[in-house]
Amino acid sequence: MNMQYLKANNDSIKKAAEVIKSGGLVAFPTETVYGLGANGLDPVAAAKIFEAKNRPTFNPLILHINSLDMLNRVARFINPDVKKLIARFWPGPLTLVLRKKEIVPGIITAGHTTVAVRMPANEIALKLIEFSGIPIAAPSANAFGFLSPTKAEHVKKQLGEKVDVILDGGSTDVGIESTIIEVRGDDFYLLRPGGLPMEEIEEITGKLKNISYKNTPNSPGQLKVHYSPSKPIKFLDETALSKITEEDAVLFFREEIENLNCGIKRVLSPDGDLRIAAANLFGYLHELEESDAKIIYVEKAPDEGLGKAIMDRLIKATNKYKL
Ligand code: TXA
Ligand code: MG
Repeated sequence: MNMQYLKANNDSIKKAAEVIKSGGLVAFPTETVYGLGANGLDPVAAAKIFEAKNRPTFNPLILHINSLDMLNRVARFINPDVKKLIARFWPGPLTLVLRKKEIVPGIITAGHTTVAVRMPANEIALKLIEFSGIPIAAPSANAFGFLSPTKAEHVKKQLGEKVDVILDGGSTDVGIESTIIEVRGDDFYLLRPGGLPMEEIEEITGKLKNISYKNTPNSPGQLKVHYSPSKPIKFLDETALSKITEEDAVLFFREEIENLNCGIKRVLSPDGDLRIAAANLFGYLHELEESDAKIIYVEKAPDEGLGKAIMDRLIKATNKYKL
């Protein structure tokens, strides 16, 4: 079957839901980034995700749900703070890692006893789940290790014919993946900083704990190298400033450095608004990746709120060209 690239509307979402039900792959928008979805209860369908992304199979997937009934089909939780988190932040960019139920196949959880679940705040995603009637397993719809997709065109560029349907729902709002929290008994662990600032979560849970899965990372969120463009990317520090030429691209955080002799440039957020910076991050990196620039230099973001999630992505991207 050839890939179908469809503007998202009721008809195309219904078509896409049929593809999900029959075991195919659908790329769809969420409020964070585009997801590469498959039937989350069908191990063979889920295996196609790993194939298309070229993703190491030890990495578990997030199940996307549209109701608390559906949550109860796949996960257990007793901690009252989990209910508070759900009431406050769902639908939204928060993924919860909870005890799984029997029905969830091992390929989804990479054999773990926990499952990652989230309810996306995007009408197209919610309808796709509703019309399918099943939780949809979806990682970000990019090739493993490369830039995350915030537009349907990004998905087409990286995955193209490996997908059955791409639902085009325009640019995503948040622009950066969900924040992932693992719940163990009374304790809450931060697995990946993301689109929901951890400070907001801590208002309910208290200080989040850190966790490190040493050799077998549970989360690519915990890999040292990830989210990289296909050309060198480096931080804009003193040494970099003295080396930049017209052949290089620069991604500024708030303000351009005047008279800097560089090629193509972008500013993440002229107002210094971290939400806008996060929303622009991957889109601008895709543009700079596609430009003629030889090296992409990026300015650091402030270490607070969404700035932490932005820096997490940038550190992992720049590590690829440093390690
Ligand atoms: O915003 C998002 O979260 C996007 C959209 C599409 O929903 N999805 C996304 O998925 O970023 P992915 O697969 O790129 O990242 C999901 C992360 C991975 O790092 C994975 O290892 C982790 O969730 N994860 C999933 N299940 C887990 C589990 N049981 N324990 C620990 N980490 C888990
Ligand atoms: Mg990803």
